[in-house]
Amino acid sequence: MRVVLLPGDGIGPEVIREARRALEALVPEVELEERLVGGASIRTTGEPLTGEALEACLAADAVFKGPVGDPEFDAQDVRPELALFTLRKALDVYTNLRPAKAGEIDLLIVRELVGGLYFGAKGVRDDGTVFDTCEYHPRQVERIARRAFELARTRRGRLTSVDKANVLETSRMWRRVVDELAAEYPDVAVGHMLVDNAAMQLVRAPQQFDVIVTENTFGDILSDVAAEVTGGLGLAPSASLGDSGPGLFEPVHGSAPDVAGLGVANPAATLRTTALLLEHGLGRPEEARLLDEAVDAALAAAPTRDLGGTATTAEFGDAVVGRFALTR
Ligand code: NAD
Ligand code: IPM
Ligand code: MN
Repeated sequence: MRVVLLPGDGIGPEVIREARRALEALVPEVELEERLVGGASIRTTGEPLTGEALEACLAADAVFKGPVGDPEFDAQDVRPELALFTLRKALDVYTNLRPAKAGEIDLLIVRELVGGLYFGAKGVRDDGTVFDTCEYHPRQVERIARRAFELARTRRGRLTSVDKANVLETSRMWRRVVDELAAEYPDVAVGHMLVDNAAMQLVRAPQQFDVIVTENTFGDILSDVAAEVTGGLGLAPSASLGDSGPGLFEPVHGSAPDVAGLGVANPAATLRTTALLLEHGLGRPEEARLLDEAVDAALAAAPTRDLGGTATTAEFGDAVVGRFALTR
């Protein structure tokens, strides 16, 4: 089993170090390789992701990516974030699972990850007008919607498709495709919600949701909202999966330049992402469960600064890894 670790920028290396410790403790036989990504890669190679690093990712069993993004590169054309689009597209990981759980809330955002505004035609016209276009082919909608129906079936059987069908053509097509698929899933109760209302409902009554399926940009925004109502970005994991080939495992949060280098970032999101990697990337659900339990215990015993506690990143990691010794 081979996993490529891409520590990334800002707090990336600090939190990925804790993922490495957890993986080494839980699955000693796993081979971990590191490669540069994002600003860290631009600084040494001039590119956000080299061809060699991409090849290593394509050949791995799973890829674990820390956050990328650095204010140093914000005014440049060669941006760290480009690495993300290259990776997501090359691995064709169109399904981005962003679970959010706390108390009564247990929801799963299924975000389409390789289409829409992020990948549509963009540019500058002669008159100076700048444009990005939101494009979807019905096949792209069908495959993500099918994934969401299948997932809803294994949970509470409720699917909310989020769109902006009162304005956008892509959303009207999205709705039609979801409705057509619904006939194949009579055991799933499907509803549609406009994205502005969905943002409000996520803040007002997040416990009403089971599975949410939505396009790339809406999913990006709604997943930060879902993270905040269940404890914050420091806790939110994600898994990006295709139909075959390695998955890409990435916390929802960014490189947090405001706390980078201080050793206080919360590694829980990264550790929960490690659990998703164990389950979906390496087929080790038992170790995934152990890790999730250890993270929950550490959150109670040693909360980090973003949660009002005082534990450092490393102390939180100690609490997690120390727990395996007790439970194994
Ligand atoms: P951010 O997620 O980095 O930070 C938002 C806020 O949440 C900050 O106050 C930060 O300190 C806090 N935060 C985030 N993760 C935390 C953690 N683990 N522990 C404690 N606090 C945490 O979003 P931003 O500030 O808008 O973006 C910063 C950079 O990150 C940008 O360059 C952006 O492009 C990039 N970014 C990358 C990813 C990714 O690689 N997946 C995701 C989001 C943003
Ligand atoms: C995320 C991030 C990325 C996205 C950025 C950094 C390109 O915000 O993974 O949520 O928008 O997909
Ligand atoms: Mn985001």
